[in-house]
Amino acid sequence: MQGVRLVNLPKILDERGNLSFMEEKNHFPFEIKRTYWIYDVPGGEVRGGHSYISNQEFIIALSGSFDVVLSDGKESKTFSLNRSYYGLLVPNNVWRHMENFSTNSLAFVVASTDFNEDDYVRDYNVFLKTKNN
Ligand code: TYD
Repeated sequence: MQGVRLVNLPKILDERGNLSFMEEKNHFPFEIKRTYWIYDVPGGEVRGGHSYISNQEFIIALSGSFDVVLSDGKESKTFSLNRSYYGLLVPNNVWRHMENFSTNSLAFVVASTDFNEDDYVRDYNVFLKTKNN
């Protein structure tokens, strides 16, 4: 799927506890405008179900696990995130939802734009039309 990729982050092993980090432009190709996180997700809940016109995101499971399901309108792919030392790059114009959140999971998201509801496409049929044009 174009532009989608799993990115390994540095992992500094230490008997005092491990450390990982990420740097804009080094590990994902945009400057950070915003971060947000999703937590306390009740079992069985689904988040997302939209695409963005211009926002790009890099998603990390800082704790626990969840699945990110992506679709470009032709194919669909599921990425299981369950380690804090890699992240998933999700370009704009990709439909996504997140599911199978484990207890106490923490989804950390870095985003390339400020929050803007007008940047959302929340209707899958509208999304498909944008892909066909
Ligand atoms: P939304 O992106 O729809 O959540 P999800 O895709 O995880 O289901 O956001 C849920 C609500 O939170 C919506 O009313 C917009 C608001 N929101 C902000 O105000 N700022 C933000 O940075 C984000 C991501 C959401």
